[in-house]
Amino acid sequence: MGDVTRRIGLSLGADICWPACYEQLLERLQLAIPWQGDTLRFSVERVTIEPFDLRQPCRYDLVVDRLTHWYHVSREWIKKAVVLDGLYVFNNPWSIQANEKHTTYAAMMRLGLKVPATWMVPPKSYEKSADLEPTLARYARLFDLGAIGERLGYPLFMKPYDGGGWVGVTKIDNEAALRAAYEASGTKIMHLQQGVLPYDRFVRCIGLGPQTRLVNYDPAAPLHDRYRLDRDFVGDAQRRELEAITLVINAFFGWDFNSCEALLKGDDWHPIDFANACPDSQVTSLHYHFPWLVKANLRWSLYCAATRRPMRMNLDWGPYFEAAAREPDYGARLAACAALARRHFDAERFEEFCARHLGHLDAVADEFFAGPAARAAVRAKVEALYPAHEVEQFTELFWQRIQAWRRAESAG
Ligand SMILES: Nc1ncnc2c1ncn2[C@@H]1O[C@H](COP(=O)(O)OP(=O)(O)OP(=O)(O)O)[C@@H](O)[C@H]1O
Ligand SMILES: [Mg+2]
Repeated sequence: MGDVTRRIGLSLGADICWPACYEQLLERLQLAIPWQGDTLRFSVERVTIEPFDLRQPCRYDLVVDRLTHWYHVSREWIKKAVVLDGLYVFNNPWSIQANEKHTTYAAMMRLGLKVPATWMVPPKSYEKSADLEPTLARYARLFDLGAIGERLGYPLFMKPYDGGGWVGVTKIDNEAALRAAYEASGTKIMHLQQGVLPYDRFVRCIGLGPQTRLVNYDPAAPLHDRYRLDRDFVGDAQRRELEAITLVINAFFGWDFNSCEALLKGDDWHPIDFANACPDSQVTSLHYHFPWLVKANLRWSLYCAATRRPMRMNLDWGPYFEAAAREPDYGARLAACAALARRHFDAERFEEFCARHLGHLDAVADEFFAGPAARAAVRAKVEALYPAHEVEQFTELFWQRIQAWRRAESAG
């Protein structure tokens, strides 16, 4: 019986705004949670990069990681801390390493989701290596790129099978453009994917543990306007469908935090991009939705740290495939998989925990996002991204959107 501190580490790269808000909100929450005879308190610090003894114990109960998809020393430190010290981390570093966009397409196809028809093609060129020549000479078959384009139809999209950040994504309208794009693709392994065009809606669904938020998305707008502010852009049934798709993919791949993109055409939602290991969390793109993200991150990380949620090191795909095989119909199949996903994320226990221990978060966040500390965090991010003469104007724009979020929240 006594005070026990749960330590949270933030493993960060270029993030500025959300960690500042996360840290200050945590402090203002003044948590003292009665838990199994003890009183839980929480501390947060930023993980530093340094040499480590593999047997050196880890000081954190939970790490929120935003770095290891490209910075591998931190990734290996986290992996050793999970294996040796029982650390809980999101997102799962092995799953990030092993599962790129391509695997998510394949898995979702087996679960019956409406991923557009997608082909993979061998790369146009290769880095030289000892076995390359004999391998290609024996086994690489000549293929007719135009015939694949014809089967998929135009427009189609050529994009890296493991892509992110729109790098190397090309919309292709005819065979000549397809051949030109392939010639220019170099050593990258590419997908060719049927275009869902024109689409009726583009939605990004952010998932954080069992929490989700749908955002209407406009990829053609400038960066600060891509996440739209409107909230009632899909009906209830579609909302539930998108939330289910997001929870299923996140639970399936052990990604606690992910942003899932889907396009609506007619009555069908087509998932096109469901593998974002380090989803955009910046106030400069999320603005109106930014406070939701900070709060969702706090709730889920506090829940996991408080309850010592065990880290699932291995993925368990069998039950999803079995559920999908059992249910012939799309809706029933998705519902069955979503039930597994909610169980994976302890949804009911989490909701109960939040109601009991974090009931004051809404009021604390409302006050925080009205004040100078939050505005300073916004400004710091804007200063990092915008030229000096635009800092004032864009700080004010994002700030006003956060104030609009506060008004919408208090209106219910
Ligand atoms: N099949 C498709 N049909 C219609 N539009 C598509 C399709 N695939 C990609 N796009 C368009 O291309 C953009 C980038 O594609 P995609 O999201 O797959 O790549 P990405 O590199 O993962 O992008 P990001 O990391 O920014 O989300 C999408 O936001 C969408 O506008
Ligand atoms: Mg995308």
